[in-house]
Amino acid sequence: MEVIICSSYEELSRAVAGVVADIVRAKPDAVLGLATGSTPLGLYKELIRMHKEDGLDFSKVTTFNLDEYVGLQPDHEQSYHYFMRENLFKHINVDPANTNVPSGTAENYDEYCQQYEQQIKDCGGIDVQVLGIGGDGHIAFNEPCSSLASRTRIKTLTEQTIDDNARFFDKKEDVPIFSITMGVGTILEAKKLLLLANGANKADAVAAAIEGPVSAMCTASALQLHPHGMIFIDAEAAGKLKMREYYEWIQTQKPTAPAS
Ligand code: GLP
Repeated sequence: MEVIICSSYEELSRAVAGVVADIVRAKPDAVLGLATGSTPLGLYKELIRMHKEDGLDFSKVTTFNLDEYVGLQPDHEQSYHYFMRENLFKHINVDPANTNVPSGTAENYDEYCQQYEQQIKDCGGIDVQVLGIGGDGHIAFNEPCSSLASRTRIKTLTEQTIDDNARFFDKKEDVPIFSITMGVGTILEAKKLLLLANGANKADAVAAAIEGPVSAMCTASALQLHPHGMIFIDAEAAGKLKMREYYEWIQTQKPTAPAS
């Protein structure tokens, strides 16, 4: 995996937006895997800017989101449906019919989860998947001990995730306990993975993901199994990396590396 240490959150957001934009320009009907949380907000702002100022065209793009809280209606302000509409979809020219966020109000989740997986396959798979990371190393809502082969399913949130996400709700009791989430196995099938993290509170999870053993205890460590994983972090999130100088050295030497 490629570890890119950025000097600021803004630089990180621009760098990731650059990768996504290159994919959309090369393949206008690209399938984008999208994430929620505070971390990708800068990326979405930059993609919106690129759409408005540089004409980046999303008209043929399809999107699939990673996860949703179970029980929240799509118009609930803390639902991931609402988040995506407010922070990205309504500002770009993506066709709403081509945006997919897992339903938190399905009647039969087994059937629905299988359908979601099938829809991804029918679109030819995800070209690039954006990921954040939870304080406990989770990707999407794949909490510690999630099988690294897991598929889209219902997942019970840990107390830590409920606490972490309580800041977005009026009170902790309002945070749903269950989520619907793509599995680690689903995520690993995307052609490219971009994981973003900033801030010192992510340093332990980032170190475990990059340098720890591949383990269901830190589902982000599954990125080590992916041939095209890129991790974009700021200096604070890089704070606990043992091989940090090497990652920086790789980036410095990149312009002189043999063409691949
Ligand atoms: C939630 C989401 C994850 C996200 C994580 C981190 O748990 N399900 O996809 O990566 O929050 O969020 P933040 O970026 O706000 O730290």
